[in-house]
Amino acid sequence: MNPQILIDTASQLVADHKGLLAMDESDPTCNKRFAKLGIPQTADARRAYRELIVTAPGLGESISGAILYDETIRQQKKDGTPFAKALAAAGIVPGIKVDTGAKDMAAHPGEKITEGLDGLRERLAEYFQMGARFAKWRAVITIGENIPSRSCLEANAQTLARYAALCQEAGLVPIVEPEVLMDGAHTLEQCRRVTEETLRNVFIQLNCQRVLLEGMILKPNMVLPGLDCPTQESVDEVADATVKTLLRTVPAAVPGIAFLSGGQPSELASARLNAMNVRFKSRMPWALTFSFSRAIQQPALEIWQGQEAKVKSAQQALIHRAQCNRAARLGAYSAAMEGT
Ligand code: G3H
Repeated sequence: MNPQILIDTASQLVADHKGLLAMDESDPTCNKRFAKLGIPQTADARRAYRELIVTAPGLGESISGAILYDETIRQQKKDGTPFAKALAAAGIVPGIKVDTGAKDMAAHPGEKITEGLDGLRERLAEYFQMGARFAKWRAVITIGENIPSRSCLEANAQTLARYAALCQEAGLVPIVEPEVLMDGAHTLEQCRRVTEETLRNVFIQLNCQRVLLEGMILKPNMVLPGLDCPTQESVDEVADATVKTLLRTVPAAVPGIAFLSGGQPSELASARLNAMNVRFKSRMPWALTFSFSRAIQQPALEIWQGQEAKVKSAQQALIHRAQCNRAARLGAYSAAMEGT
């Protein structure tokens, strides 16, 4: 492991007020999103859609890194250029999702543990050869009656930390993603407590596994009320709860925090990120940015619908969301940017 290379890659991922694009949906997840829009669920359709994203003109002006999936990193543009190479040529660092999914946790009804450590060292070496310079692993925490359990939080935190240590050994910056899900009727306060406990566990384990904090990125959820909670706090209240939780739990040595969107409406995700950067600008030791999938891609996917003739307008929609989120990172986003 060369710490300076990790530090440089991590800094590059959060430089110039850019953020990350997650385009790492597994085949089943991508197919589910295609099915809703009547798009064929084939490897070729997935390839065509990913080519639309990778070749969107000017994507590198707002996006510093893109997270690919195993199938995608092995695919190419129509002209034969591998996607990882096309991204690098556009000034975007290629990354790779390396977990193999969140599975039911034995003896823990309603809870998940993420798998994928077996053979990870070898897979990371292969992805590095293919051009990846960072990786992602997602752990899922559900809020419900008597959950999350302490054992679920600890097991997921330890797994995230073991993944992160392996990534750094292989020269890849780990994106550490503990996601507290929005599903449910829990309050913002419940989400705040669970997110705080989750992040405390994660950093205990990262330290225990000797992960270089300067060479990683944290990808957390925003602190939000559950989707079915009758009280939905304002953008500013969400911003305050989220940043206060992060200030309590995330060491200043971490260079960047890049949120997942978790199924929030695209414009709301931008507004919330913007409010955090406006209200806490001078108080945050880390860059606060985005690593969205749905909140960047969804409008483009809905326009494309699998049709070649719609590629250009879908790319425009994708670039628009990327630009809105870059503005949100700067604290310069406003609703007036929408509809332009
Ligand atoms: O693992 C989840 C993705 O990287 C982020 O997806 O922004 O749609 O939650 P999302």
